[in-house]
Amino acid sequence: MIYVTRKASFSAAHRLYNPTFSDERNEAVFDKCNNPLGHGHNYVMEVTVKGLPDPLTGYVIDLKRLKDVLDETVVDKVDHKHLNYDVDFLRGIIPTVENLCVAFWRQLEHRLPSGELHCIKVYESDQNMAEYFGDPVSIPTYDMVPATTSLEVPA
Ligand code: NI
Repeated sequence: MIYVTRKASFSAAHRLYNPTFSDERNEAVFDKCNNPLGHGHNYVMEVTVKGLPDPLTGYVIDLKRLKDVLDETVVDKVDHKHLNYDVDFLRGIIPTVENLCVAFWRQLEHRLPSGELHCIKVYESDQNMAEYFGDPVSIPTYDMVPATTSLEVPA
């Protein structure tokens, strides 16, 4: 088996909070990541596809086609977006790197022209990353209400 990896990057905002928690509990659990209007990251993702090279092309997967699929299903939908509110396939999901791996996997899983999805890694910073190999996992969704109070301007 050969493992082929394509890297992609995007910039996005998110806020880590659980709307069923009190403000105090969100603060205690998510700390700085709970900033009401969000904060940004330059994310990097790595998608690894496994398979045997096609005897005619030598490719497990044509990396140019993998790039196109990746752009179409993930990158174009999340780049320069607020992950809590702007992205249809992330709606209601707490946008941790863990959950992003799983959500991206589900976007990509059945879209590959050849090979089989093996691993998705998402880096939120140079220090923090998560990786996912497709094991069954269920991710709850919550009713995420955008924070607007600090944007309100007195009349
Ligand atoms: Ni963050």
